[in-house]
Parts: sequence; structure tokens; C-alpha cells
Amino acid sequence: GPVICIVGARPNFMKMAPILRAMAAHIPPMPVLLVHTGQHYDKDMNDRLFEDLRLPRPDANLEVGSGTHAIQTAEVMRRFEPVVDAHKPSCVAVVGDVNSTLACALVAVKKGVPVVHIEAGLRSYDRAMPEEINRILTDQISARLYTTERTAEDNLVREGIPPERVCFAGNVMIDSVVFGRANARSATETLRACDINPLVLSHPMGYGVVTLHRPSNVDKPETLRALLGVLAEVAASLPLVFALHPRTRSNIDRFGLEDLVDPARMVLLPPQGYLEMLGLMAGAAMVLTDSGGLQEETTALGVPCLTLRENTERPITVEQGTNLLVGRNRAAILGAVQEILAGRGKRGRLPEFWDGHAAERIAADLYQWLMSSQSGIAL
Ligand code: UD1
Repeated sequence: GPVICIVGARPNFMKMAPILRAMAAHIPPMPVLLVHTGQHYDKDMNDRLFEDLRLPRPDANLEVGSGTHAIQTAEVMRRFEPVVDAHKPSCVAVVGDVNSTLACALVAVKKGVPVVHIEAGLRSYDRAMPEEINRILTDQISARLYTTERTAEDNLVREGIPPERVCFAGNVMIDSVVFGRANARSATETLRACDINPLVLSHPMGYGVVTLHRPSNVDKPETLRALLGVLAEVAASLPLVFALHPRTRSNIDRFGLEDLVDPARMVLLPPQGYLEMLGLMAGAAMVLTDSGGLQEETTALGVPCLTLRENTERPITVEQGTNLLVGRNRAAILGAVQEILAGRGKRGRLPEFWDGHAAERIAADLYQWLMSSQSGIAL
């Protein structure tokens, strides 16, 4: 049967696109069925990303939409089960750590279908993060696990996962950066198209890019207010361009925080396409974010990144890349911004196997693994 590949939320798209290409280019080609759970249904967040990443149209869309964690996870499971029954897949491939990842993995493993987890073994060691729960549980029920950095295998082995299930393949997210860079839309073009204040475009320091969407940062009015307050201070020395996740957009409105956004220095943009986002990041003086993916993309692009979280599941971006953890601490954030503006930002280097070929390594290994008897006995 085919390899069923799952995407659900925005960060899954950049990871799955290169894998689908590599499986199609494999000799012999590997049969694939692409399932979109519909966890993210926003038109902007879907159509443009699919187009930018040249993702094929999904073979099935489960249209689960939003809900509590329980409802969303349960709906994915309920709707994914008949797809597995109908197609008798050789395995189910999931990426990352969103609710769709865990839900589909759980359906597959209980049907005796091997689960393949791409981006396995990342740990923030913060179980208040829903993604951390999704990572731990998905890894536990996966038969083949592909990692993006060496420390991930240590994490997995500590949790009792046999090392022979683990394969260090590199970072598929960076495959997409390499693929997209050639066609990335220039930052000037993107910003002009958004009709933003010309003061932002002509600032001698350039601009910074901000994204925020973690529940821990944006769901409480006082936390979001404090963060926007610090960002307003940053904006006094560097104009900021926000690419707003729908959750954050609606919370800014709901909590009445619009007044913290000075339009001459801070620009709120709707979610951007992938090629726009790459261009904006590549041209930025720095990126301030709570996203996992952006920590990796900035390291690949060599752009300084300040992560507005207390921890990261991607320690290599701090050890080798351009990333610095600053949490929500005002002094730490402002100090780090000034360092970067003074030209003393982290330079960083490219981690091992973040080379644009991770998906090819995964397809080659997965094919061998499926052909061998291992897939059967791994369960
Ligand atoms: C999800 C992932 C998170 C990932 C993020 C990337 C989980 C637990 N979280 O978080 O790891 O970093 O995606 O974007 O899976 N909404 C829309 N339109 C959409 C999708 C969401 O308006 O297309 C709004 C809705 O108000 C919804 C809220 O965003 O209730 C949260 O969406 P949800 O899919 O539950 O989680 P994210 O916060 O997007």
C-alpha cells in the first residue's frame, strides 16, 4: 500500500513538501497518499503555502477545523480511521508535533500500521506545552524515527526508544528554505505591496520581523500586553513587521491592545505566504519569535534570532546557530536587540545535515526499511 503522509497545520507543510518530492523522485517512485486533516483551514494559511511549496492537492481533506485539544484530536482520529481502512498503507508518515501528528499516529499504531515520525526526539522538557506532549507520545509509538539534530537521539534513548529505530537524516525544514530561497519574494516588494508606512521602509537600521502565537505568550491579556509593550520599546530603535497568526490577531482585538501598536513603527501583517516570509526574514536585521520553525530558518539564513521563550526544543540553533533565548524578560530582550544593532549579533554556522538533502536521505532510508522485514517486527 501507499505511504500515507499527514499534514494538518502550517508548520507541517514546509516539512512534508520536500519529503513528497523525494519520494516521487526515488527510484522506484514510492506511492503516496497525502491527507490534510484540516486543523488549519484559513484560506491564507493554506492555499498560498501549498502553492509556494508546490505541494500537490491533498488526496483527502478531513476538515476537522478548530476546537479544544480533545475535540480536535478526537475528530482527526475519528475521520482518519476510515482512510487507513480504505487504503491499507505500508506506513503512516507524520511530521512535527501538532495535534494532527499525534492523532494520526495513534490511529495508525492501533491498526498495526507502522508510524514514521519525521523531526523526532526534540524536547523542550516543558510539559505545559501541548506540542511537548504530542512529541513524547508520537515518538513512543513510532517504528521509524528521523531526527534533525544529534541531541534528539539522546533524548529518545533516554525515553527507552531502541537506537536502531532512529535515523539522523537532517532537517527537512531547511530543504524547503533551500528550495524556496531561489524564488523568495524580496522584502521590499512584500512590504510595498502591504502599503505600509514609508518610514518603516526607509529606516537606516532596516526592520525586524516578529511572530508570536504560543498560547503561553498570547492567550493571557497581561502577558500579551507586556510583550507588546516591550516590542514597542524595541520599535523605538528598529521598526518591526509582525506576521500575525490568526490566534494572535484575534487576541489583540479581543483584549483591546491595538493602542500598543504605533503604525509608524510597527506594522501588523496578515499571515504571509512562505516565499514572502523567507524574503522578509532574509532581509531582516533580526527576527523575534516564539515559533519553532523560525528558530531553524533564521539559523539557515544566518539572521540573528531572539526567541521569546524560556526554553527551546531545538538547542542546536542556540549552540551552533544564530538563536538566543531571551524569554519575556524586558532587559534581556532590549539588551540583545542593542547588541545586534551594534553589529555584535551571533553569527552562527550551519548544523550538520541542514543542507537541503534531508528528505532524500529519508526517502532512501524509508524505502530500504519498508523493503526489509524490520518494519513488521518493529511493532
Ligand atoms: C498549531 C500547533 C502549533 C503550531 C501552530 C502553527 C497544536 C497543538 N498546535 O497551533 O504547534 O506551532 O499550529 O501555526 O497542534 N485559527 C484560525 N484559522 C486557522 C487555524 C486556526 O483562525 O486556519 C485560529 C482559531 O481561532 C483556533 C486557533 O487559531 O481556535 C488555534 O488553532 P489550533 O489549530 O488549535 O492551534 P494553533 O494555535 O494554530
